[in-house]
Amino acid sequence: MFYMPTKVIFKRGSLNEVGRETRSLGKRVLLVTGRRFARQYGYLDRLSKLMEKEGLVVHIYDKVEPNPSFETVNRGAEYAREHNVDVIVAFGGGSAIDAAKGIAVLCTQGGKIEDYVYPNMVEGEVLPVVAIPTTCGTGSEVTRYAVLTDIKRKKKLTVVGYPIIPKIALLDPLVLRHLPSELTAYTALDALSHALEAYWSKSSQPISDLVALESIKVIIKNIEAGYKDPEKRDALHYASLLAGIAINAAGTTMIHGVGYYLTAYHNIHHGLANAMFLPFAFKFNSPVIKEKVMRLAQYLEIKASNYEEAANRFFKLLCRLEDAVGIPKSLRDIGISESEIDDIVKDALTYERNMKNNPRPIDYESLREIVLEAYSGRP
Ligand SMILES: [Fe+2]
Repeated sequence: MFYMPTKVIFKRGSLNEVGRETRSLGKRVLLVTGRRFARQYGYLDRLSKLMEKEGLVVHIYDKVEPNPSFETVNRGAEYAREHNVDVIVAFGGGSAIDAAKGIAVLCTQGGKIEDYVYPNMVEGEVLPVVAIPTTCGTGSEVTRYAVLTDIKRKKKLTVVGYPIIPKIALLDPLVLRHLPSELTAYTALDALSHALEAYWSKSSQPISDLVALESIKVIIKNIEAGYKDPEKRDALHYASLLAGIAINAAGTTMIHGVGYYLTAYHNIHHGLANAMFLPFAFKFNSPVIKEKVMRLAQYLEIKASNYEEAANRFFKLLCRLEDAVGIPKSLRDIGISESEIDDIVKDALTYERNMKNNPRPIDYESLREIVLEAYSGRP
């Protein structure tokens, strides 16, 4: 089964189409975005004017913080209901898009977003969402997931369901010009995690594999250029979309599960958190996905006569790539203390959905080994 119901528009300057596209879905808009970026670079004004020109009424909710809380979603939904909005436009990274999805559910189905988190599933009607991603990482513009944070319990919780897949994804690579280099690297590595995890996921399938392979290839080829040059990020924007399509079908695995701790407890960027574990997770999983490793090497034109060589070369390539875009070498380098290693392992194991989706079974000891490797750092 492969289901991808989003209309995708990808073009430099496609932001100008936001009015016409949104009009096809509703009349009264809630524009959901973060606190700074959209205002700072004039997008808030520009988007509002473009939509008003098409006769839409626009209400702005620019209160979404990184790793949005339940409260942010609940308050946004209250505001949306007060104004009787019938379509939601999300402009931002994964945080804004995920918050918008949560609001879309509450507007038609009521209650608090806490009531909808996994293992519950969203069914039935939700407000249509137009997603405009401003990073090259989330993929949320095409997924059935919204990741939110339970601040009190320091847990990442996910709202899942086909109805929350955005109706339209509007990708204008020009918005990436304003993304700092560091965030370009972090978000592109989040996308690379999505693609790799979807590729080796237990729920992977032929179509998601194709999309994941292409995403991996495009990211590897373009991440350094995009990191250095704000004009060279179009390909990363595209690859992040592909990675989103892949995880929508195949889900994420252990990297996301183990990365959440760093974000919840140390406020480490989600993409950076994943990057810290990426090479080691690959090394751990590769023995059970030998054929896939060979196919990956072939796809990337990595010369290798056998599986060991292919796995080894790809591991080195991941390490080199992360070095080239300024990713710190080890958990130690980002301020994690050795005494936390067991806490990280315990917390990661609570993300059962991710762990169960991993191709190689994970237990306490094997995961501890991986976290230790990440603590010691890349070679
Ligand atoms: Fe992610």
